[in-house]
Amino acid sequence: MTETGSVWMAEWAAAQKVKAPSMKNESVFYRNLEEELDLARQTGHSLPLHLPNHEIDFSSCDVIGLGQSGALRKEFLQELADNPNFHLGAGGSRLMDGHTRYQDKLEREIAEMFDVESALVVHSGWTANQAIFSTIPRPGDVIVYDELMHATALAGMKVSLALEQRLFRHNDVDSFIEVLEEVRDSQPQIRSGKRCVIIAVESYYSMDGDICPLRELIDAAKEIFPLGNAQFVVDEAHSFGVVGPKGLGFVSELGLEKEIAIRMHTFGKALSGSGAVILSNNTVRWMLINHAKVLICSVAPPFTLLAAARAGLRLMRSEEAQKVSASLIGAYGVELNASQARDRLQYLTKLYLDTLTSNPIYKKANAKGLLRMPMHEEEDWHDQPFITHIVPIWTKSKHAHYLSFHLVSDGINGTPIVFPIVPKGEDRVRLIMHSYNTEEDVKTLVNSICSWAQEMLEIEASGDKNRLPKAAQRAFDLMKKVAAEDGVDGTKETNGVNGTNRANEIANGTM
Ligand SMILES: Cc1ncc(COP(=O)(O)O)c(C=O)c1O
Repeated sequence: MTETGSVWMAEWAAAQKVKAPSMKNESVFYRNLEEELDLARQTGHSLPLHLPNHEIDFSSCDVIGLGQSGALRKEFLQELADNPNFHLGAGGSRLMDGHTRYQDKLEREIAEMFDVESALVVHSGWTANQAIFSTIPRPGDVIVYDELMHATALAGMKVSLALEQRLFRHNDVDSFIEVLEEVRDSQPQIRSGKRCVIIAVESYYSMDGDICPLRELIDAAKEIFPLGNAQFVVDEAHSFGVVGPKGLGFVSELGLEKEIAIRMHTFGKALSGSGAVILSNNTVRWMLINHAKVLICSVAPPFTLLAAARAGLRLMRSEEAQKVSASLIGAYGVELNASQARDRLQYLTKLYLDTLTSNPIYKKANAKGLLRMPMHEEEDWHDQPFITHIVPIWTKSKHAHYLSFHLVSDGINGTPIVFPIVPKGEDRVRLIMHSYNTEEDVKTLVNSICSWAQEMLEIEASGDKNRLPKAAQRAFDLMKKVAAEDGVDGTKETNGVNGTNRANEIANGTM
């Protein structure tokens, strides 16, 4: 067990401690909130805040290393030095006093970079999706979206004025066509071209790590709506910075810029900053500025966000070798520019997938349904021109935590993702590759996954339903210890389980 693994486990165990039962004499206001939090604690799903200090990073979004290498910090400080009179606060919302020359300049630069009419920089991807989906679909329009669209887009759709919102099965072109045809046949205003269909997809899906069949979707939409009233919104949160010419993203990679009405790129992933930009024509931009409540009623992005984005964009496009991968410099004595870092990301992802899927233990565990990688089980993933760096491992129900505990104890951060973030029965550990991971890191990861798989195979073969893999046992023992130390007894107040029994029930999957 590594030191960071021990710290993480202790934090996790402490985070499962139920609180409401010991608050009988406290205000109902706080007790009710704690009762709500206890629901996650009771099932071992309460996540602690922890410092990202694992030995090996297979989780953060800093995929091409602009952040961890210090390259962005250096570029950002240069940006500050070049603009010494900056104001920290924006001074108001964009339509009031928050519009600045600097933001205007940045947006023009971005528009030119992407060869689009306009760009609108906002606080975050959340803000962008809220603005887009709450504002752009007008009354009488219909939103058609992939069922795995990000929660931020769904939140925007919730307050949209659209007549209807229809989902299609994830990345399923036939399901998409079926839904579009139903919309066409049931909505005369849309059929006649008076109202629109707004189609929402992601380029790379954040939890599955697969790629949108965008070209096929565009072709189908054009055929079903030849009057041009079906328009696409593409969320490029995970493809921006990692694919396309100079990292401009998936739509640029496919050369489909003219087919997409709105693209949304976030700065918080590969760019290693925060904020987002909405790429569109002037009409859409003005609609958002004048009608999106989330923009009208909120202060404009601060200078620091804009400056970090500008610095990150410069690095992302630079041909110069930068220290974008600090750990590589140590390992190989080389510096990479962003484009080389992107190539390395592809190389390492393929190396990981090949090494894992060819391991006999993985094969055995996969055949038993203990581990799955649905996107990479068929050989044809090799034929794709590029793959995503998001490489989750599906597990049996409840096992995502077991695998995560195992990885953590080997110094690797792999986050368990369970319902309601993903559908029931699709628990997984989400892993993300980085250009700064080394071949040795990849080997350590594969070894760790396979040693867990071996343990699970042995447990299954033993038929012992109460036996847990070692790392999970350790985590649950810690949890019992924390509960016992506090003497918390949730028997009466929280679904009839006390700290000790609860740990057993969680561990045995009976909760
Ligand atoms: C696909 C997708 N869209 C939007 C967002 C939100 O972006 P931000 O973190 O900038 O709010 C995320 C972030 O996780 C995302 O994965």
